[in-house]
This record gives sequence, C-alpha cells and structure tokens, in this order.
Amino acid sequence: MALRDLTRSVAGGALSSGMARLNARHPWSHNDHFHRWILDHLPVQRRAALDVGCGQGGLVATLAPYFGEVVGNDVDATMRVAASQLCSGLANVRIDGGDWSRLDGPFDLVTMVAVLHHLEVGRAPEEVRGLLSPGGRFLAVGLAPPTSIADHAWDVASIVTNPVIGFIKHPRANRGGPQPPPYPVQDPTTTYDDLRRHVAAVMPGARMRHRLGFRHTIEWTKPADR
Ligand SMILES: C[S@@+](CC[C@H](N)C(=O)[O-])C[C@H]1O[C@@H](n2cnc3c(N)ncnc32)[C@H](O)[C@@H]1O
Repeated sequence: MALRDLTRSVAGGALSSGMARLNARHPWSHNDHFHRWILDHLPVQRRAALDVGCGQGGLVATLAPYFGEVVGNDVDATMRVAASQLCSGLANVRIDGGDWSRLDGPFDLVTMVAVLHHLEVGRAPEEVRGLLSPGGRFLAVGLAPPTSIADHAWDVASIVTNPVIGFIKHPRANRGGPQPPPYPVQDPTTTYDDLRRHVAAVMPGARMRHRLGFRHTIEWTKPADR
C-alpha cells in the first residue's frame, strides 16, 4: 500500500484529514512551485514556447516576457477562458483548444506541468519531439503512483516537508477547509520507472528526477542536428 493511501487509513483517516486541514491553512501550489525551475532551464533560443495543458494560464503568463510567442493549449473550455482572461494584456500569447500535437511548430520550448499523465504516454514524448526545434527543450513536471522503494522514500520526504513548505510560502493561516483543485485532475497510472523507459526511448539522455511535492521533473534538449 502506498504511504499516501496509508495516511488515509490510519486512525480511521484522522491522519489524512488532519494533514489536509493543515495544508488548507497553509496552502501552496505544487505545480506553480516549479515555474521557477522552468525559468531556470529555458533554452538559449526563445522564439516560440508551447505550454500543453495550460490550465488557468499561470505558466503561459510567466513565460511571455521571455519568448517571441507563447501558445497555451488546453482541452478544457473553462480553463481556456480563464487563461485568456489572465493573459488578455499579453500581445504575444495565444490560447488554443485544438489537438496540441498538430500545432504548427517548431517550438523552442514545450512545457507540461501535471499534464503528461492525462495524455497517452506511449505517444506524447514522440509528439513533443516532433514539435521541438533543433536545440529546443522539453520541460515537464509530473506525477506518478509510488511503487518502487525510491518512490516511497520520496513520498515520505514529501509528506514530511509539505506542511513546512506551506508554512514558509503561506505563513498566515487561511480560514476554511480544503478547496477543490481549480483545474481538471486525473490520478496518474504510469509508474515513474515505466515513464522513464517511455521517455528514454524517444528522448535519449533525458534527465528525470524525483522532487518534493509528490512530483518529478523531466528535462530534455533536442539535439541540434535532428
Ligand atoms: C492538473 S491540470 C494542470 C494545469 C496546469 N498545467 C497547472 O499547472 O496549473 C491538467 C490540465 O491538462 C489539461 N488537459 C488534459 N488533457 C489534455 C489534452 N489532451 N490536451 C490539452 N490539455 C489537456 C486539463 O484540462 C487540465 O487543465
């Protein structure tokens, strides 16, 4: 049983609901937290960027000052309205609702934050590779169900540090209970190790790392000669 699930069964769920209340009082976005990591790993060439599954558009707006053009794509119409509103003053941003893999590239950056597990894992990395310019970069922040010892160890670290990070990022306590996520969510099913195999098959040399916050990151730069 995964530790995340164990916390739900300990003392009739008291541990899990206590943690949820604590997190609601000192909330932090486990996705937005990685925007800094993305900014720290931008490609050298910055003509166009694509954020797949852009949700409410926070990352699209964050990338806009760094690229000639930024496309935010999301399958959900409510998310596209929110993203369009957030980015309404940004002339180089376009919010799109078509099939992301058929967009006109190339892009120097393709990002996915908490999105890869919504997609077909057997196809998505190849489609990203096809959209990237030579020297272009894929930066993804993802989720996977914990199965290996390493996954469980990172889960323990994430469970322990989660409230600490919440206190640091949001020291003033919120009133009210846990809020539902502001975007469509889906439970991940592909394990970290399986995902790494899928990614390595089409993105040789990709760097995949476990992270705090129940996340992992994937970083790959398309070779300049392909
Ligand atoms: C967990 S949310 C993350 C949203 C955003 N990236 C963030 O970090 O706040 C996943 C997003 O992926 C979008 N999504 C799911 N399947 C998609 C697809 N096939 N193409 C584009 N977007 C998709 C959902 O509508 C949702 O907004």
